[in-house]
Amino acid sequence: MSVLSSGQSADDPPRKWRIEALSDRHDLAGFVCRVEFLDKYVNYAKRNQELGYGRTYVGLDANDHVCGYSTIAMGHVFFDHLPDNLKRRAPKYPMPAALLCCLAVATPCQKSGLGTLLLMDALHHMVQASEIIAARVVEVLAISKEAKNWYSRFGFLPFLDDELHLYLPMDTVRTTIQGDLSKPSR
Ligand SMILES: CC(C)(COP(=O)(O)OP(=O)(O)OC[C@H]1O[C@@H](n2cnc3c(N)ncnc32)[C@H](O)[C@@H]1OP(=O)(O)O)[C@@H](O)C(=O)NCCC(=O)NCCS
Repeated sequence: MSVLSSGQSADDPPRKWRIEALSDRHDLAGFVCRVEFLDKYVNYAKRNQELGYGRTYVGLDANDHVCGYSTIAMGHVFFDHLPDNLKRRAPKYPMPAALLCCLAVATPCQKSGLGTLLLMDALHHMVQASEIIAARVVEVLAISKEAKNWYSRFGFLPFLDDELHLYLPMDTVRTTIQGDLSKPSR
């Protein structure tokens, strides 16, 4: 799979999954991906959304069961944590970022493309947001080395502060994602 590609083309059969913005009609109870933090977060996702701490998108199967979710917010990265390529021409104050707070797929649904679909959808929203509010990079704190390896498939690279703190330049996302998944969730 190429970097930042969902692997979906116009000729592919209809998608197995659907993504929607989290609302009261979605039931998140019982979501399990076997990562404690991400399993607990679903209990707070609606409240955090109301408070403006994170906007969540859910991946639904044909029966409307929540099989995965992503949560995004605005972020920033300290200048000292930037690799040299990002420091070039950058002012010495925190770099504006779009933050992927959470990404999780329920254990029985893993490895069937939903994680990739949720990531592409989140990146679409970030590109759209960056047209209005500046974000130079997408940042994510991978929850484990395995998660880091998964993000690496899409071109994510580490910042200097923590090998699990990863980024993709927004320019790269914007350029590469054009034409891929042309309609993000609403
Ligand atoms: C990481 C996660 C979101 C991926 O979602 P998913 O739906 O299982 O992944 P996809 O089906 O889209 O992608 C699977 C592909 O990634 C590969 N893959 C899976 N885990 C991988 C890893 N640790 N390193 C590299 N590749 C990996 C699979 O082999 C598969 O490759 P293929 O498409 O060539 O067959 C999901 O496994 C998950 O929720 N894990 C637990 C929580 C977590 O770690 N979340 C990350 C938050 S920081």
